[in-house]
Amino acid sequence: MCGIVAAAARREVSEILLEGLRRLEYRGYDSAGMALIDNERNLQLHKQQGKVSELEKAQQLRPVLGCTGIAHTRWATHGEPSAVNAHPHISDQRVALVHNGIIENHQLLRAELLAQGYQFSSATDTEVVVHLLHRELAAGRSLLEAMQSTVGRLEGAYALAAIDTAHPEQVVAARRGSPLVVGVGIGENFLASDQLALRQVTDRFIFLEEGDVVLLSPSELQVFDSAGAPVERTRTSISEAVEVVELGAYDHYMLKEIHEQPRALAATFAQAAGREQLDECFGPGATEVFDRVQGVQIVACGTSFHAGMVARYWLEELAGIPCEVEVASEFRYRKRVGHEGTLLVTISQSGETADTLAALRNAGEGEFIGSLVVSNVANSSLVRESELVFLTQAGMEIGVASTKAFTTQLVGLLMLTMALGRRHAMSPEKQLEITRALQALPDYVRQTLALDGAIERLSDAFIPRHHALFLGRGIHYPIAMEGALKLKEISYIHAEAYPAGELKHGPLALVDNDMPVVAVAPGDELLEKVKSNLEEVRSRGAELFVFADQQAGFVSEPRVKVLSMPHCPEVIKPIVYTVALQLLSYHVALQKGTDVDKPRNLAKSVTVE
Ligand code: AGP
Repeated sequence: MCGIVAAAARREVSEILLEGLRRLEYRGYDSAGMALIDNERNLQLHKQQGKVSELEKAQQLRPVLGCTGIAHTRWATHGEPSAVNAHPHISDQRVALVHNGIIENHQLLRAELLAQGYQFSSATDTEVVVHLLHRELAAGRSLLEAMQSTVGRLEGAYALAAIDTAHPEQVVAARRGSPLVVGVGIGENFLASDQLALRQVTDRFIFLEEGDVVLLSPSELQVFDSAGAPVERTRTSISEAVEVVELGAYDHYMLKEIHEQPRALAATFAQAAGREQLDECFGPGATEVFDRVQGVQIVACGTSFHAGMVARYWLEELAGIPCEVEVASEFRYRKRVGHEGTLLVTISQSGETADTLAALRNAGEGEFIGSLVVSNVANSSLVRESELVFLTQAGMEIGVASTKAFTTQLVGLLMLTMALGRRHAMSPEKQLEITRALQALPDYVRQTLALDGAIERLSDAFIPRHHALFLGRGIHYPIAMEGALKLKEISYIHAEAYPAGELKHGPLALVDNDMPVVAVAPGDELLEKVKSNLEEVRSRGAELFVFADQQAGFVSEPRVKVLSMPHCPEVIKPIVYTVALQLLSYHVALQKGTDVDKPRNLAKSVTVE
């Protein structure tokens, strides 16, 4: 989704801005731009539709140089992807501004500014902000004052950064609802929507808080809270080595990330090693909170929501703890009735998903006994704002389609089930059994990865299709949902998942010889029921693809293709089967020639609602 990079330095910063944008590319975007103040105090601008490489080409042809600048990658919300709608937006050739988020009252503000003679060149919600800022500056306010009064007019979510030729050394920025971090340099300062963009220039960061406005120059760094009072925000040193993410021998990050799962799963579970209590993996204070848990409310989006759905089965079946799961965009706006002793668990790979963050923030006073986030990104907003934290050890995930982040979330949630379960219905024997299963998990995943060739052969049948049905029962229903989401995300084939028992209540009408049906049928106690459901499908002429335990008694026959999965402990089957479905989607997408790592219209980190 949109990315911001800004710099106030005494050296030329165009290459720093471009490198920052390159580091944010994986998040998904459709256009890019940058503006700098040159040494004649003029604004210099490049905006391009498409990749950052287009911006680089424009920069090679006509270099724009300066020591103060802002840059942006845009993921279209208001107005089509185009160079005109790309940021920065300009007012009066004087002020340039970039924005992440959505300004909800932009129509009202646009009408007001039009009436005052301002002209608009884009269809974006953002352009109102640059004109508002200009209006304040033209009225004689300082850059800081102008931003403070501008944000007072905005409704919605924003991270903003702006420059003004009348204040050529300064960058002003503000955040509400979208992340922004200051990179503290020596004799220079930087700003970005994600610290990753700035690791090239510093390892010292200030994560801005809601409502903060910040003024940067090479020699000054002043932060003001939403009331306009100067504040000192904590400086954080992120000194661990910058994670170098390279493709290596793989054609795509998604494939690489699928193959990294044995390591990532082992590293995630290894956090329990040597600890007296599993509770310690969830941060200081976990024991005190866990002792009071009577129920769990999980909130998440997309793939992370599917992880939550799997966790509900574990928490209720293995731990005997009531659990509700809801997508964040619904949860946040719903009137809710709280249950005593409920722990709020958010799940988010990025830790920045706007709806999940809003759900955490609008949890009512006393509604929950505490909040826990399962995330892959230390220092993300959800991590900073939650009381308890479980960090998955997936390593950076570049592919927009989540793979290793999902399976490591499942490991974290199974560990949570054990930590809570020992206080409820889970026996020590059961805990030992799960521990052993988790220890063996990387090996079962390796065995599944070895089925790559067989899965690739299955994928051929999906290429000419426009639809696919995924079926699962029990805990494997969310796994079918995740399989369907992966297929639609990266191959653009419409795929839906159903609990197999729901077939004859509607979806069976869709089934014919043009509808491939994928069954997640690991061979648990629901096996016989799944087999009956599959007969219903087969007798309507559909081609069946059954992912089944090698001991479940399924054999391939005409129009039924069986992928024999490793025989592994029940509790980890959702994780193991996910890996096979990830490979299926990957091979279908590969053959269809889609942009596997950056599927159209999608972003890695969804920071707008
Ligand atoms: C996963 O493949 C998707 N790209 C998407 O559904 C994702 O899981 C969702 O946007 C939530 O993201 P988060 O885990 O970073 O909160």
